[in-house]
Amino acid sequence: MLWSLAAILSILSTEFVCCLDNGLARTPPMGWLSWTRFTCNTNCVTDMDNCISEKLFMDMADQMVADGYRDAGYEYVSLDDCWLAEIRDKDGRLQADPLRFPSGITGLVKYMHSRGLKLGIYEDFGTRTCAGYPGSEFYMQLDAQTFADWEVDLLKFDGCNSNPQDDKFGYPAMSLYLNKTGRPILFSCEWPLYEYQKQMPSNYTNIAKTCNVWRNFWDVSDSWDSIKGIIKYYGDNNALFQANSGPGGFFDPDMIVLGDFGLSYYQQRVQMTMWAMWSAPLVMSNDLRNIRPESKALLLNKRLLEIDQDPMGVMASRIWLFSNLELWLKPVMPKGSFVFVYFYSQDNGNGIPLSTPLDGIGLTDPNGYNITEVIDGQYMGIYKPSDTFKCHVYPNDVFVAKAVPLSGAFWARSKVSDWSFLEKRMKDLKLL
Ligand code: GLA
Repeated sequence: MLWSLAAILSILSTEFVCCLDNGLARTPPMGWLSWTRFTCNTNCVTDMDNCISEKLFMDMADQMVADGYRDAGYEYVSLDDCWLAEIRDKDGRLQADPLRFPSGITGLVKYMHSRGLKLGIYEDFGTRTCAGYPGSEFYMQLDAQTFADWEVDLLKFDGCNSNPQDDKFGYPAMSLYLNKTGRPILFSCEWPLYEYQKQMPSNYTNIAKTCNVWRNFWDVSDSWDSIKGIIKYYGDNNALFQANSGPGGFFDPDMIVLGDFGLSYYQQRVQMTMWAMWSAPLVMSNDLRNIRPESKALLLNKRLLEIDQDPMGVMASRIWLFSNLELWLKPVMPKGSFVFVYFYSQDNGNGIPLSTPLDGIGLTDPNGYNITEVIDGQYMGIYKPSDTFKCHVYPNDVFVAKAVPLSGAFWARSKVSDWSFLEKRMKDLKLL
């Protein structure tokens, strides 16, 4: 059976009319994914607790329930690469490695669903996954149906071993096949990442019609350089990304590595805050059985999670960048409120004291704002636009504050940003 471009084009023109509307990801999805922490460790003989097996996912699920992650909103427990058997079954269907997944995917799905969690699965648009397991090319419809039959809730669809020129046909085709199963399956794509790697432009309008979330930059690694690189890329492309994201479709800067080995406590504050500011998926890849209390507290910080899950789903704007100090602004509910974040990426010193007139940050409501520091929840007082706001930001750390207007006025058009699109978004979302 040959992959036929003409066949796909005809499917797209007749059936794929417009807009992924599967009702999912109205706020950014939250969950856990195995890759960054557990990679492709298939050695269950001598490393039983850490290999890619059903036990690992069941352990994480138990921990998510017991420690309050599920109740905080982390609901998807997701397989990444290396869950598959080396070959398809006699009918061409995918199958999990029988030794490492003795209950099969259906058993694992039942385990998750009975605990109020969801199961995510991983496949690849190409002939093989990145780690070399069977890919979906030539089998997409069958695989979509298999995932639906298994009652899977999310598909992460990778793009190794395919031609990125085909992504614009392959990802919409898979999206269509998933929709045709009738089961709501959140579609997490890596389409723009593979275009980026080949320096091809990405059409985010089409991507947003096809996917619920999409990776568009290099894999995150457990390192500060990786986190800084992602923040820079999202800052440098801020206007384009902001214009193409919102409820139903979010940019995915990749997994949260809080609780792993590479980030200091302050750097962990930075990752959690910036991902929340972008309304990014919060998908942890760590070992919840063994995590320091300060990492856990950040992952469960209600005020940060509320910023990420804000119903308007607006990606923050980077409103200024001076050398290694930057300021980000995100409109949130209640109406007229903002979260603002100073991020200081300096490797020495004691940080810097900051004094900014509030209207210089873009907070211009004449009646003023109640301002609260977000991570610790410290109330700071009432500020008018002409008042000077003072704070201190430490090296490789963030200062995060939320400003709620006293009057409940609309977001003002200011020198630094134009939020006029928000009124329509609020109406569309029935928030007004
Ligand atoms: C790619 C993806 C990663 C991960 C690996 C698995 O690199 O970008 O997120 O899924 O493949 O092999």
